[in-house]
Amino acid sequence: MKVNILVIGDIVGRPGREILKKKLASFRQAEQIDFCVANAENAAGGSGITPDIMDELFATGIDVLTSGDHIWKKKEIVPVIEQTPRLLRPANYPAESPGRGFGLFETASGLPVGVINVQGRVFMPSSDCPFRAAKEAVAELAQKAKLIILDLHAEATSEKIAFGWYLDGQVSLVFGTHTHIQTADERILPQGTAYITDVGMTGPYESVLGRKVEKVLSSFVKRMPTHFDVAEDDVRLCGAIVTVNSQTGQALAIKRVALKDND
Ligand SMILES: [Fe+2]
Ligand SMILES: [Fe+2]
Repeated sequence: MKVNILVIGDIVGRPGREILKKKLASFRQAEQIDFCVANAENAAGGSGITPDIMDELFATGIDVLTSGDHIWKKKEIVPVIEQTPRLLRPANYPAESPGRGFGLFETASGLPVGVINVQGRVFMPSSDCPFRAAKEAVAELAQKAKLIILDLHAEATSEKIAFGWYLDGQVSLVFGTHTHIQTADERILPQGTAYITDVGMTGPYESVLGRKVEKVLSSFVKRMPTHFDVAEDDVRLCGAIVTVNSQTGQALAIKRVALKDND
């Protein structure tokens, strides 16, 4: 049986949330999506996530939310993440940090799906080894699920590509997030793992990574600190769809998604 999984890149602020409300349900239906994972580290005002926004995103039809370096920016999420297995923080954070880095979930038809979230270490805040954390999570999930997908929240293309090779044949999909720029390098690696360096941002593209151009430009030009407001225009929903053989867990196809607000 073929299973279609939609993964969505960093949802930025209200514009990112609004396009999901408008488009996700019909897009899921049109593309016959069985399971949907989205990165929500920028969902609240461009940085972090609150409990209300988390509920709002689940209500759009997302099954699991992943995150990254901005996960703790809104403190209200800290007590809630403990009670919410569907909201992941990177698995290579200290064992003492709240929440979980991976979990076992199900499609509507009852097929088990493992989801893992890790954060890179190159040009990123320090953390435990993402390679080791991912291996441990895969070992645990593989006992129960053929389908395993991993959100690699990382900056450096080298680290991300290395990760794809590292897990080739052990997971169905390694997809990158964090850079907010969709890469055109989607492919299926020799042992059957689909890979893309970054699925891109879900938010306003008349911006610098989702923030208003003038503010970011001013900070680069003047070298003075400033608050970066979330931009508003040219909103797009970006991600990728991977089709997986449910018996083997091997990816059969991967395609990029980049929907404009008025598409
Ligand atoms: Fe991000
Ligand atoms: Fe990030």
